[in-house]
Amino acid sequence: MDLSISLTVNGVRRDVALDNPRVTLLDLLRERLDLTGTKKGCDRGQCGACTILLDGRRINSCLALAISHDGADILTIEGLAQGEELHPVQAAFIAHDGFQCGFCTPGQIMSAVGLIREGQAGDDPERVREAMSGNLCRCGAYAGITEAVLEAQKTLADAGRRDAA
Ligand code: FES
Ligand code: FES
Repeated sequence: MDLSISLTVNGVRRDVALDNPRVTLLDLLRERLDLTGTKKGCDRGQCGACTILLDGRRINSCLALAISHDGADILTIEGLAQGEELHPVQAAFIAHDGFQCGFCTPGQIMSAVGLIREGQAGDDPERVREAMSGNLCRCGAYAGITEAVLEAQKTLADAGRRDAA
């Protein structure tokens, strides 16, 4: 049985020989590809710390078997910034104190990027809170997180309008 898969991770093709068919994308990212920005909180789909974008959609990587995603395109927190320039969601989290200890933050940010791409939240804080409810924060930084998502959404929408003009 061939346990090799190919993934595109943050724009780079990675060929990985799996030593275990049950390895999750989370463990593969952290332990095989040294991408430890994606965090392991509960390891059972309850906290959102492990959120990544898989083919453009946010998922809990602790619940995804790597072998089921051969050929997938993956974006992790390490792939967001362009060199020294932070992604607007990252910058907004800093501007609005959207974190304290920072453990949940990569998952929060990836979830926010996914949410903004989904275009579901509008400018309604309640909808943002609901759409981000799969990402828990033990430090209770929710107020700043919601403000950050709303600001980043506006920044990205404004940039999109400028690009289209
Ligand atoms: S580590 Fe995946 S949801 Fe908690
Ligand atoms: S900032 Fe500490 S868990 Fe969210």
